[in-house]
Amino acid sequence: MTGAAGFIGSHTCVDLLTAGYRVIGVDDFSNSSPHAIERIREVVGPDVAGNLDFVELDVRDGAALGKLLGGGGRGGGPVYAVVHFAARKAVGESVRMPVEYYDTNVNATLRLIEAMREHGVRRLIFSSSCSVHGNADSLPIPEEAPARPTNPYARTKWICEQILSDLCVAEPDWRVIALRYFNPVGAHPSGLLGEDPRGIPNNVMPYLQQVAVGRLAELSVFGSDYPTPDGTGIRDYIHVVDLAEGHRAAMEHLDDQTGYRVYNLGTGTGTSVLQLVAAFSEAVGRPLPYRIVGRRPGDVAELVADPRRAAEELGWRTKRGLADMCRDAWEFQRRNPGGYDGVAG
Ligand code: UFG
Repeated sequence: MTGAAGFIGSHTCVDLLTAGYRVIGVDDFSNSSPHAIERIREVVGPDVAGNLDFVELDVRDGAALGKLLGGGGRGGGPVYAVVHFAARKAVGESVRMPVEYYDTNVNATLRLIEAMREHGVRRLIFSSSCSVHGNADSLPIPEEAPARPTNPYARTKWICEQILSDLCVAEPDWRVIALRYFNPVGAHPSGLLGEDPRGIPNNVMPYLQQVAVGRLAELSVFGSDYPTPDGTGIRDYIHVVDLAEGHRAAMEHLDDQTGYRVYNLGTGTGTSVLQLVAAFSEAVGRPLPYRIVGRRPGDVAELVADPRRAAEELGWRTKRGLADMCRDAWEFQRRNPGGYDGVAG
């Protein structure tokens, strides 16, 4: 698992370990903390923690990857599949640093494919994003909707999807699933694992979490003039533990398919920014301060998944609602006000 210390990676690691998988996690900690690896071990408990190996590396380092895929981790044995999370993911930053985004997101995926091919590993789960769609023509968005990415970050995801699809045509023994995430939020219910971005959060939920612990003064709500019922942007927020379970469902489906397949992971329900602020305030027990400001460049009014393909083919559905997402995110932030590394407010 690449990006194992990240927000989605760490939760998926817990889910897979708990389900009996052995995991070799890798991360370069460029946007994550080594403490996340300790927390994974703490959440799963001592009996299972031994099934996690961890190696610090950059996925663009093909030689290091090859060594790992050849060695199979503690105890040896072949690697069954790779789950590839490691990537840069901030939209605004991608506009300022496109070359770094193409290098980290696209080059790393190519190095990974080469290393997998060299060592006979041909099952891959790839982290993609609903942002490949850009402005959707209609909602909810099914997988077949046209891809029209509107920023370099989303283009890196769409390029990787096309590389993987072409690979599966050329080399039919590959089995690849791309999962398009909608808006992952929430945290592990233990309060030990959650989202802990470096610097000022770009995304609404970690921003709200930091407002709630006093690290930030108030949320800026980006635009109240969208064509939505309350005028604020609507997204399909999905609990990160549901998302983690989606990866396990995909893993268990890999051998029932050949070639390349893409699945949306979302709830199918939209929530506006103001509804999210209200739900999070409810979880915290007091109203959180916010101010309406202008629209954020590049934002779209509404993104909601059509999650039916994943339900029909993977047998996966979300089980957790907005109140669960807010409760668990708050529990993590309350217990870790300064994040994993205890950053002062
Ligand atoms: N928003 C605010 N204030 C903020 C941050 C966000 O009002 O401080 C609003 C946005 O305008 C939007 C909604 O909250 O309406 C959600 O915004 P996020 O930034 O949380 O998430 P996005 O929908 O912009 O998602 C993007 C990409 C995803 C990517 C994700 C994480 O589309 O592919 O950011 O980087 F995975």
